Amino acid sequence: MRLYVNIDHVATLREARKTDEPDPVQAAAAAERAGADGITVHLREDRRHIQDADVTALTRSVRTVLNLELGAHTEIVRFATRVQPRPFQATLVPEKRQEITTEGGLALRRTDRRLRGAIARLQSAGIRVSLFIDPSLRTIDLAKEFGVPAIELHTGRYAHTWRRGTKALDELRRAAAHGKSIGLAVHAGHGLTYQNVQPVAAIPEIEELNIGHSIVSNAVFWGLEEAVRRMKTLVNGARNT
Ligand code: PXP
Repeated sequence: MRLYVNIDHVATLREARKTDEPDPVQAAAAAERAGADGITVHLREDRRHIQDADVTALTRSVRTVLNLELGAHTEIVRFATRVQPRPFQATLVPEKRQEITTEGGLALRRTDRRLRGAIARLQSAGIRVSLFIDPSLRTIDLAKEFGVPAIELHTGRYAHTWRRGTKALDELRRAAAHGKSIGLAVHAGHGLTYQNVQPVAAIPEIEELNIGHSIVSNAVFWGLEEAVRRMKTLVNGARNT
């Protein structure tokens, strides 16, 4: 199980003052020292947190791998395919300007030429593509048709309901098993916290978790390295029991 640390909200804090601290490059290095297996950032169309210059700096400084989240917008896809060195992975997400965070998975349609075009351009630039989707079996089958090697299951519903029962967790379990059975690498993320991560981390078919907000939030109290270390310990602990 790989833990990719999403450092968007380090940039959110910087952008609150439009200054130069805290620095996402320093944050990425700290996360890596603490055992992060990868660094994730979302270059949003409105550039509300991560900026183009951050991605350029991170592709050069990250020693593990960089996972770039992006919407299928021509300008952002072009940027992703040109930055040097290229990110290892691109996770395509739906993006709405007014949303506070990525609210749901991609609504896949076979006829979506914009999405197909984005996947083709990223893949021909040598970037591994993952699609951020809801944990529905039908959507997973459709993702496979798009010819990508990986999917990331949106864990938002689980994150909102885990205290009230196992329905969303069961849905994630079924989705992960199905994804793997049809040859997709299965990732997961969104809304995972120190309290709710372990049941998801225990799903054997999931090989990568993307976690941001909770880690950066707790870094305020523990420091970023300690926050990553504690999350890594929980993830590994769930896997080994
Ligand atoms: N995965 C994807 C595709 C996301 O868009 C996000 C949020 O940017 C995350 C994971 C991380 O979510 P959180 O910040 O709630 O941990």
